[in-house]
Amino acid sequence: MNTIAIDGPAGAGKSTIAKRVAKNLSYIYVDTGAMYRAMALYLIRNQVKPEETEKIEKASEHADISIAYENGEQQVLLNGENVTSLLRTEEVGNMASKSSANPKVRTKLVELQRKLASKQPVVMDGRDIGTQVLPNANIKIYLTASTHTRALRRYKELNEKGESCNLQTIEEDIALRDHQDMTREISPLKKAEDAVLLDSSDMTIDEVVSKIMGMVK
Ligand code: DC
Repeated sequence: MNTIAIDGPAGAGKSTIAKRVAKNLSYIYVDTGAMYRAMALYLIRNQVKPEETEKIEKASEHADISIAYENGEQQVLLNGENVTSLLRTEEVGNMASKSSANPKVRTKLVELQRKLASKQPVVMDGRDIGTQVLPNANIKIYLTASTHTRALRRYKELNEKGESCNLQTIEEDIALRDHQDMTREISPLKKAEDAVLLDSSDMTIDEVVSKIMGMVK
């Protein structure tokens, strides 16, 4: 099955790029971060704290996470409820960064990710796709950008939504998230040896997409 793996830190533009590439190729786009976010939402709703390892492991047995597609858009179901619109908050993202370090959570979600990729051609983005989930992916990209560029992008996005925010706080949050994702024991974020490094700091979305499309050809 054809697979394209895109890994990289928060805010590098992975989902925007992955969606565009998937559309160009008529592949399915799989956002694995959303699965870790759904698990985090379950933990928040059940008042589980990031340091409560045993509770996280129990919770991971009770949280049934599945994926559906509506008009080509990924929908995440948590115990049958469509929670897609509740996942992209800072609170859920911060919890996901912490709870995704748990091995039970990872085993469960990696299994779901591999199953999806075995059924259809996918562009899958995350942190460990090229290194762990799909080590034999046809194309592996490590997409990054400077911390400042990523913070600025997030700042603009929040501003456009009319949410008040502070650039310095966002930059600090991003640095903390990078640290957590890159230093955890299991499947930390790192570039697979055979991944192509793309730094999007000075590239437009179109430039990144056409670079990847060139690799596909
Ligand atoms: O890409 P995102 O911001 O939606 O991901 C949220 C968190 O989930 C991220 O901080 C780390 C975790 N994650 C992971 O550990 N492995 C993945 N493949 C995807 C996300």
